[in-house]
Amino acid sequence: MNDRTMNDRTMKAVLLDRFGGPEVLYVGRVPRPEPAPGEVLVRVHAFSVNRGEMAARSGRAQLLTGRKFPQRSGQDFAGEVAGLGTGTTGVTVGDRVWGIVGRSAFRSAAEYVTVRPQRLGRVPDGLDLVAAAALPATGTTAVTALRDKAALRPGERLLVRGAAGGVGSAVVQLGKAYGAQVTGLARAANLDFVRTLGAHHAIDHRTVSPAELGPFDVVVDTAGTDLRTFRRLLNPGGRMVALALDMYSAVPNWRAPCTPRSTR
Ligand SMILES: NC(=O)c1ccc[n+]([C@@H]2O[C@H](COP(=O)([O-])OP(=O)(O)OC[C@H]3O[C@@H](n4cnc5c(N)ncnc54)[C@H](OP(=O)(O)O)[C@@H]3O)[C@@H](O)[C@H]2O)c1
Repeated sequence: MNDRTMNDRTMKAVLLDRFGGPEVLYVGRVPRPEPAPGEVLVRVHAFSVNRGEMAARSGRAQLLTGRKFPQRSGQDFAGEVAGLGTGTTGVTVGDRVWGIVGRSAFRSAAEYVTVRPQRLGRVPDGLDLVAAAALPATGTTAVTALRDKAALRPGERLLVRGAAGGVGSAVVQLGKAYGAQVTGLARAANLDFVRTLGAHHAIDHRTVSPAELGPFDVVVDTAGTDLRTFRRLLNPGGRMVALALDMYSAVPNWRAPCTPRSTR
């Protein structure tokens, strides 16, 4: 087999041979996936890194990742449909798509991924694929939290903890778009950024006491601490959605749910 043939059957992918910081990541080669019947092959243009990946890479989610190496990285991606398995419908080769490889899978940091078409959506026109890759996990989490779990209504008061983070920044923008009065908590250096996202109020979480805040109709928490304290800020009938996978740090081998929990 010559190099060309071999390269045609492999692809570059981000790998790790041990748990640790970002320095454990390297680019290696793995078999290029072929789309099974009903699957889509996507040529990945960009992927993003979020907190779940950092927990997996550092070894704090070993029930999820296992301990066999090399391991892969990456959950969400944006790219172009490059091939279709037999019988796959709903997408066409060349479509610009974004998606998530799966709830507990890490493999989008690579040249190609295969997924079911249900895991894909079309990237809106005018959005470049690098920017698009930042949104699948954070954006769907924000939509699930505000629309499906909290049922946020126009005019309600929304508090976002971690408003400058990946999920929180999406929640602030979506909350504003849904017509809520948005208060974002972030560190001082991030307050202007949170305001540019559309928050009506941006407050330094390091200097404010929770007792100085509220009341709120909906609290979305991405910090994972003091949940009872923040829940007390709710109006009667208020809803709180706790998203932080804080158990990663509390219990080293705990397997975290990847869907938001509502404490309504
Ligand atoms: N990313 C996803 O798609 C996703 C999906 C589901 C669940 N989650 C979970 O949601 C949590 C956040 O994820 P992420 O990706 O958004 O992380 P991230 O980008 O690192 O953002 C986390 C934010 O939390 C803020 N923060 C830390 N301590 C805080 C405190 N005491 N009060 C208020 N804000 C505080 C930080 O803001 P400052 O720097 O301004 O202090 C930081 O911007 C993680 O537990 C993650 O596992 C993430």
